[in-house]
Amino acid sequence: MNIEVTSDIIHVVEKGLLRERKSLPSWLFYDENGDRIFQEIMRMPEYYLTACEYEILQMNKGDILKRFHRYGPFQLVELGAGDGMKTEILLKHFVAEKTDFSYHPIDISSSVLEQLQRRLQKSLPALRYYPQQGEYIDALSKLNLSSEQRKVILFLGSNIGNFTLKRAKEFLKHVSASMHVDDLFFLGVDLKKDPRVIRRAYDDATGITKRFNMNLLSRLNRELGANFMLDQFDHYATYDPETGEAKSYLVSLREQDVYVDALNRNIHFARWEYIHTEVSLKYDQPMLEELAEISGLQIIKQYWDGKHNFTNVIFVKPR
Ligand code: AVI
Repeated sequence: MNIEVTSDIIHVVEKGLLRERKSLPSWLFYDENGDRIFQEIMRMPEYYLTACEYEILQMNKGDILKRFHRYGPFQLVELGAGDGMKTEILLKHFVAEKTDFSYHPIDISSSVLEQLQRRLQKSLPALRYYPQQGEYIDALSKLNLSSEQRKVILFLGSNIGNFTLKRAKEFLKHVSASMHVDDLFFLGVDLKKDPRVIRRAYDDATGITKRFNMNLLSRLNRELGANFMLDQFDHYATYDPETGEAKSYLVSLREQDVYVDALNRNIHFARWEYIHTEVSLKYDQPMLEELAEISGLQIIKQYWDGKHNFTNVIFVKPR
């Protein structure tokens, strides 16, 4: 853990836990332990998102390559690359087709990038690979890309769902501002569907998602010297079909004070008081079109899985 990250954590925890409606940002889930639990989530049957996106990429990799390669060699930038398992479907296909491209994964977690690098060195030794650690937009601006080649930006796994709609719009404006004419943005996003299916994806019977959410408290215990008693909090997940927001909370099971050493103070919790920890926004077609409109991008192609649970969208920066 580097000092800069720790001071970021202290800052967001102070801000998030001292306000009336307590909340913590979902990026706090992803320490080494959280990364591992998230990989378990992606393998659970209830978490349909991963399998659906796999299916889309597997079924359409030929068409996707044709569109990415339309103007020749390209630079493939991935925001929030994570473990890169899904991207590997595309990378393997591109390499097998002897495509001239370079891969520039960006992730906030350097341990995830190292893991990815080890895997790619083994499975795709010929790949030209330039990882960049950092926050998406900031790292995007720091990439050393050639202006000669077209840029294709990937943002998979419905990571965009972890932004509110307002922030997603701002984010897309930033992405669009970093693109030149004919550059592409390839977005993977979860869709509105049977509310019960969505709720189960965030509240599985085996309790893996609960462990994921509770890990946030363990992280604060470990890194900020807090004394959260894990059996005194519970995981609670909701889905609102009207807004498309799946939300996760940690709920205090009794009135209690939690001491946080790094803040040098107690945080008071009333019984049933909550900490809001995550939003996972589900989209419909008008919302996607609104994103395009607001960011000045154009949707040129869209793919769906067989059940229309999930969609991958290609946006272009128009002339
Ligand atoms: C990373 N992100 C897209 C996941 C999601 O679906 O919002 C994180 C997650 N949270 C609970 N389960 C999975």
